[in-house]
Amino acid sequence: MFSQVAEHSPYGGVVPEIAARAHVELLDGIVERALEEAQVALADVDGVAATAGPGLIGGVMVGLVSAKALALAAGKPFLAINHLEAHALSARLSFGTEFPFLLLLISGGHCQLMAAEAIGSYRLYGATIDDAVGEAFDKTAKLLGLPYPGGPQIEHLAQQGDPRRFPLPRPMLGREGADFSFSGLKTAVRQIVRQNALTERDKSDLAASFQAAVVEVMADRVRAGMTRFRTEFGQSNSRCNFVAAGGVAANRPIRQGLNRLAAEQGFRLSLAAPELCTDNGAMVAWAGLERLALGLADGLDAAPRARWPLESIGPTAR
Ligand code: KG4
Ligand code: ZN
Repeated sequence: MFSQVAEHSPYGGVVPEIAARAHVELLDGIVERALEEAQVALADVDGVAATAGPGLIGGVMVGLVSAKALALAAGKPFLAINHLEAHALSARLSFGTEFPFLLLLISGGHCQLMAAEAIGSYRLYGATIDDAVGEAFDKTAKLLGLPYPGGPQIEHLAQQGDPRRFPLPRPMLGREGADFSFSGLKTAVRQIVRQNALTERDKSDLAASFQAAVVEVMADRVRAGMTRFRTEFGQSNSRCNFVAAGGVAANRPIRQGLNRLAAEQGFRLSLAAPELCTDNGAMVAWAGLERLALGLADGLDAAPRARWPLESIGPTAR
């Protein structure tokens, strides 16, 4: 597996131009190596799937064009995958989780709760009204002088910290609906950083306090989503399915919080292994297989999209 984390780290975030160039430089080698490791020839694959969005358009275009060329050269069906749907379906790759399920999508760019009814069919229950939760982790990490991506850094630092040390706000707690908000939390952290000369001990405590606030609001918002999902889809004789996906779902305290909540609410939680929560090619390939099985292959004219909300992708071929 290749990662561009080292290239972006000095800049405290993903730099679009660097991302696109790195895609061009690495992609041929990655495809070759993947085929080699799987011991298959291009002629043996069922189809070629690539992310068509949403995301930084430069990187998306490079991947999409390369995949189209491969599909054309090998005479294979081509599948243009929505990145968010790939995250959503990673639970089906790991556990075969059946539709419908309540979906919590938590990544660097997204934070939303949805009812996932079928491939291509998603209904929004709630979303962040400002920062995505991964963004809040990354910005908080930056404030504490930690490199990008900040999520794993905060999780690590928080291990030694006291989560009760700093009384941070719990945005949206108890609010009607299932929306999220994280910018107030980040602002509170910024104020503490500005007003104090923090020791390493203080930073650990602040990281732990931040993470505890995220776990608490997450549980509260998801609980509201569960109530709605149960009303719409619940059957008295079976437990409802709940999937958490996206990079932030790799976070151990968040995983524990969601496990506790699922047990409390009688939901069956599908939580893929951490390496399948953060961005990976396997989930895109899997989404391609699911779509191919339904006859939903795309034309080679499928466009890259910077914005492509999951609830807009539609149940059938686009
Ligand atoms: O899904 P993902 O890999 O890429 C996007 O689609 O955005 O998610 C990346 C986000 C980053 O904000 C990163 O800091 C966060 O997921 N993340 C974590 C952890 N691992 C990755 N956040 C908290 N704890 C983690 N262990
Ligand atoms: Zn992602």
